[in-house]
Amino acid sequence: MLATTMHDTDRLAALLRPSLAELSPYVPAHVPEGVAHLDANESPWSLSDDARRSLADAIARVEMNRYPDVRATALREIVAAENGVHPDRVVPGCGSDEVIAMLMTALANPPAGRSEASVLFPAPTFVMYRQSARSLGLRARSVPLDDAFDLDADALVAAVRDERPNVVFLASPNNPTGTLFARDRIAAVIEAARDSLVVLDEAYAAFAGVTYRAERDANPHVAQLQTISKIGLAALRVGWAILPVGVARAVDTVRLPYNLSATSQAAAVHCLTTLRPELDAAVRRIVAERDRVAPLLAALEDVRVWPSAANFWWIRVPRDAAAVHAGMLRRGVAVRSFHTHGGALARQLRITVGTPEENDRMLAALRGALADEP
Ligand SMILES: Cc1ncc(COP(=O)(O)O)c(C=O)c1O
Repeated sequence: MLATTMHDTDRLAALLRPSLAELSPYVPAHVPEGVAHLDANESPWSLSDDARRSLADAIARVEMNRYPDVRATALREIVAAENGVHPDRVVPGCGSDEVIAMLMTALANPPAGRSEASVLFPAPTFVMYRQSARSLGLRARSVPLDDAFDLDADALVAAVRDERPNVVFLASPNNPTGTLFARDRIAAVIEAARDSLVVLDEAYAAFAGVTYRAERDANPHVAQLQTISKIGLAALRVGWAILPVGVARAVDTVRLPYNLSATSQAAAVHCLTTLRPELDAAVRRIVAERDRVAPLLAALEDVRVWPSAANFWWIRVPRDAAAVHAGMLRRGVAVRSFHTHGGALARQLRITVGTPEENDRMLAALRGALADEP
């Protein structure tokens, strides 16, 4: 028998954090079988058969009866060596998504004279900055990007002074725009936000060949956020932040002890060492495809393409993006539409770089969808 009455549910609803009413669970769109999956910024290539076999061996060596290494020592050491920091500054998470939430959990003290902590980011950008902030009861303030989808540094600096945010998030290359923010504009925000933690999110940095290590080294309030999801390992759910020492200790304190399973740790370590050449080659192929197809997209009538430094294209179509998205899906290609954001985004699509065959199919589907009767 269903014991919960409406009355009970109402009483429990009163216990919920009020900000949850403005959010909904993250549910990616269902992509039917046989449809090209160009909507989630994943790599189109899985591991080779040899790589899968060696990965299976690495996972088979995990002692399944034991809890994982609580510190993920081997992973931290690899990341630390690659990034030139002490392992204590690396805080790993179940994807960088979890690290974003951990940062906000730790850095949640309202600034003097304010009742709420807050985070600041440009818009549009990665949705989890807002989602996590609001889920955890922090204010979320955004500043629109300029017409070229670069940072509006003056407006961001003004927002930093006004908001005094606990954390500032800048993803460069940015999702969904694929744009690499001008370095002097990033520098202006870093300079203005000396009393905040400035997180430079490098989720797509491998496709741009950039790193913000210099900014991190020159500024004690700057952190890097990195993930292996976009370079072909989205299934593993492994990401990390490189943080100032004191902050790393605090974030490690809020981190649940076994947030990274032993299999994820073993797999990530194997991939970042033995399988590294294969992963790097896949990144190079994605970049080559991105640059092959960008001019073909730009050649389509009335389609505008922004320079992409990531593993996706950000395009404006001459009509409502929802209709073009639906037309492409009917032709077997799933992409991401931003029409629900309205305004300047109503005609924007984000299309992940696929295999050469998928990209050719995507071009044909887009051509077809643009020619559909309105
Ligand atoms: C800018 C940015 N940061 C972080 C993430 C989160 O990646 P993950 O949780 O898979 O590490 C994403 C995923 O789309 C992203 O676009």
